[in-house]
Amino acid sequence: MLNSCLKINAKRLIIYNDMNNEPEIISEIDKILEDAERLLNSSENVNELDDRFRNFTGKKGKITGILHNIHLYSAEEKKIIGSKSNEAKNRIENIYNGKKKELSNIEYGKSSTGRGIDLTIPGSYMEGPHKHPITAVLEEASDFFSSMGFEIVEGPEIETTHYNFDALNIPADHPARDVWDTFYLLNGLVPRTHTSSVQARTLEKKQLPLRVIAPGRCYRYEAVDATHLFMFNQMEGLFVDKNVRLTDLKGILEETVKNLLGARKTRFRPAFYPFVEPGLDLDIECVFCGGRGCGICKNTGWIEVIPCGMVHPNVFKYAGIDPQEYRGFAFGMGFDRIVMLKYNINDLRLLYQGNIDILKQF
Ligand code: DAH
Repeated sequence: MLNSCLKINAKRLIIYNDMNNEPEIISEIDKILEDAERLLNSSENVNELDDRFRNFTGKKGKITGILHNIHLYSAEEKKIIGSKSNEAKNRIENIYNGKKKELSNIEYGKSSTGRGIDLTIPGSYMEGPHKHPITAVLEEASDFFSSMGFEIVEGPEIETTHYNFDALNIPADHPARDVWDTFYLLNGLVPRTHTSSVQARTLEKKQLPLRVIAPGRCYRYEAVDATHLFMFNQMEGLFVDKNVRLTDLKGILEETVKNLLGARKTRFRPAFYPFVEPGLDLDIECVFCGGRGCGICKNTGWIEVIPCGMVHPNVFKYAGIDPQEYRGFAFGMGFDRIVMLKYNINDLRLLYQGNIDILKQF
């Protein structure tokens, strides 16, 4: 309407606003801007928005019309009208761009391109989860023992001195107690120093014959270095039946080493543990020096991996089992050590630092 009036008789249509001496067309531009703001912001989809936008700034749009006729005004007026129109045009463009983004996002979200997922974007690499080496070897060992009929049992990490010592034939005044550098809690309990406590607990239930393994954490008052930690993992084993012999112990443990560590040279040598008689240590040839002798095997060429023995008659007696009727063997693997040997890790601390770069290598 304004455009056509201007075309017909533009010069005579210039009416001045009394108050601020501006051409009336300025308030027209304000009105156009107001309309544009309202219409663009209320558009319901991108098509509607584009149409409406074109009505203001397109070739035949309202703002374009005003600029088109600007030659009809005086130089002074051209300046005012020109700058006001450009200001309005910029503002309308900004409103349009903002609204377009908003409507496009909504429409994209509803589109078949995957309800907001663009299937054409190349995927990013995600590293899969993997098990901690101790957990992985523990599961492997558990599977192996299960295949030989062993059941997996657990005992408490905070233990009574009865199960940790007395029931294992280590009375309070026995010097062997000192071997296990024990943390004593104020309430008289102890963080178990070995998983052998689970032997005592299992025997007490008297469900015989039995074959169990008991993996778990143990605690000792140790100065931490490459081969000692104050917290470590052990896996206890106990096999009780009427005719169990030392050769059964040897056969099963040699098979265990073969399964977990591959073909290795092994040897048994006598050792003292109060809860077994005889007591033994199963050693394997040092993996680090091939038996020649090095710092890790203390120049012996051998590394102790599984202390073991035949269950002491007193341990059976504490549990109320007749040692004439039943026999058994037991072993207590230092599990962290098995993991170290399996993967050639020469510092135990690496397993507990939670360093992903180290752990993901296994
Ligand atoms: N409990 C012992 C320790 O931590 C290891 C051990 C030795 C366990 C002989 C056994 C065994 O079951 O028969 O030093």
